[in-house]
Amino acid sequence: MGLEVHMLKVSTLFIKNYVYLIIDKHSKKAALIDPVWDEQKIMELLAENNCTLSYILLTHSHPDHVHLADTLARNTGCRVHMSRVEIEFYGFWCTNLFPLHDEEEILLGNSKIKAILTPGHTKGSLCYIAGNNIFTGDTLFIEGCGLCWGRGADPAEMYDSLNRLKRIIPPHMKIYPAHRFGQKPGKSYENILQYNIYLDFRNKEDFIKYRMRRNQKLLFAFR
Ligand SMILES: [Fe+2]
Repeated sequence: MGLEVHMLKVSTLFIKNYVYLIIDKHSKKAALIDPVWDEQKIMELLAENNCTLSYILLTHSHPDHVHLADTLARNTGCRVHMSRVEIEFYGFWCTNLFPLHDEEEILLGNSKIKAILTPGHTKGSLCYIAGNNIFTGDTLFIEGCGLCWGRGADPAEMYDSLNRLKRIIPPHMKIYPAHRFGQKPGKSYENILQYNIYLDFRNKEDFIKYRMRRNQKLLFAFR
């Protein structure tokens, strides 16, 4: 499929996020995953690549993922997608917002993008598959998985979501999370298996116990 992925590192005082731009090479239509904070950098990237923004695809409703959704939707007229579950559970709203259901596909030019519902970090987190790439938000990181506390979060659902991803992600598919904790985004699934112990669990109770452990040294110390 004729897709191109661009990665943009953006930050605010305490957090660093990765924003992704997906371009359908033939039509030059583009989608942004979780655009936040640096509007100028994002608009420059769109202009440099001479593409039109069709969609903003939100993985979930946490502020470090949705910050620019409303502004960009108002300025460009693009559509914004998020899962129906996430919208309804948290009461999220922004301009041009359209809900997606599990396994719904949208077209970016001639390229298909498929939404996969992966609750656990939030009630209605989505991952997006586009060509040989999957954008995993705060569900699956290269080095671990997202936190499972807070309203709507659930480690049992995270276990099921990771198992689902394990079944559907082929070994060569590239993983693009919203944050990095050492490893560069865009590694293949078979490659991340050596870093990510959260994909090793075969038993839900053990997974929950480990994910919710109280002696975790730092919030993002995954081991
Ligand atoms: Fe999050």
